[in-house]
Amino acid sequence: MNKIRWGIIGTGKIARTFAKAINGTEDAELYAVASRTSHNAEEFALKFGADKAYGSYRELAEDKNVDVVYIATPMASHYNDAMLCIENGRNVLCEKTLSLNTAMTKEIIDFAKEKNVFFMEAMWMKCRPVFLKVLEWINAGKIGTPRYIKADFSNYIPYDENDRLFRADCGGGALLDLGVYPLTFAHAIFGYPDEIISSAEISSDGVDVNNTILLKYNDGRFVSADNGFRLQLSNNAMVSGTEGFITMGLWFHCTSDIALYGKRSELIEKFSCEPEINGYEYEIREVHKCLRNGLKESPLVSHEGTIEVMKIMDECRKQWGMKFPQEK
Ligand SMILES: NC(=O)c1ccc[n+]([C@@H]2O[C@H](COP(=O)([O-])OP(=O)(O)OC[C@H]3O[C@@H](n4cnc5c(N)ncnc54)[C@H](OP(=O)(O)O)[C@@H]3O)[C@@H](O)[C@H]2O)c1
Repeated sequence: MNKIRWGIIGTGKIARTFAKAINGTEDAELYAVASRTSHNAEEFALKFGADKAYGSYRELAEDKNVDVVYIATPMASHYNDAMLCIENGRNVLCEKTLSLNTAMTKEIIDFAKEKNVFFMEAMWMKCRPVFLKVLEWINAGKIGTPRYIKADFSNYIPYDENDRLFRADCGGGALLDLGVYPLTFAHAIFGYPDEIISSAEISSDGVDVNNTILLKYNDGRFVSADNGFRLQLSNNAMVSGTEGFITMGLWFHCTSDIALYGKRSELIEKFSCEPEINGYEYEIREVHKCLRNGLKESPLVSHEGTIEVMKIMDECRKQWGMKFPQEK
């Protein structure tokens, strides 16, 4: 089987983690890397074994030997980077959160459709076996009718004015960086809500450093999600239904352990799946499966799901009066 040749744009933390997953995947090849500086690209290529090291993102986007590009730049750069790759006919896996708002997200996805390229938000959680098992248990009726979801993602992160997380011009804030996981989780199970109630603490840099979100549905279901940089939470998730509940352990979006309980909190079943590499192999396999089958959209990480979660985040920011400089 031909190897799928990956190009990576950006050489930061997640690009390095992802490069390890590519290198551990049998039918994947880390072919090229691009950085804003040749020096960083060369250092990355040497460390992770890429053939090509480009000192500009454009050069990688124009390289026809790249089968798929992984975009690993800050949120505020995704729009330009994704449009550049799509314009040049490249297939794209773009890091979360896909862009700053719904309008930009739709534009990217519409452009990918127009150019007939594969496009997926790198929502790795949705490709992990534990997440798929949660959906399987719910669809099999193991907790009856799901009524309530609780999911948190808050890490204590010391303030650093240069860190993209605290910079409005980088698309910073806890909502887009962390909140996207609880919201994507809830949306995958309950869909788009009928009402969104939220509140946030906004820093002097203009980004949310703590937020709390309630999603309500007309039939009485609801979701509670807390996200932030100022508190360390356990980052658990649970889905509760009329016949029982499911828990996802510490750091739910990347946990290896989930459990199913009955109505009286009795343990019914446990499921565990340790990553074979570092957890990113599942989204790589999903991208490969789509490319080999000629799909332009992943059934696991749908375009509609990405857009609707973005719409929820837009509404939260509207309620907080929080705009990114690019939107003013
Ligand atoms: N899936 C996950 O588990 C996961 C985990 C962490 C982060 N992420 C996502 O991945 C993306 C990158 O996060 P990260 O933690 O890897 O960030 P990071 O360490 O700051 O790296 C971002 C890279 O993007 C490039 N870049 C382009 N424009 C930039 C700018 N204006 N400022 C700073 N860097 C810029 C830089 O590479 P060059 O200098 O080489 O061009 C930089 O090394 C974000 O969208 C984040 O949400 C996903």
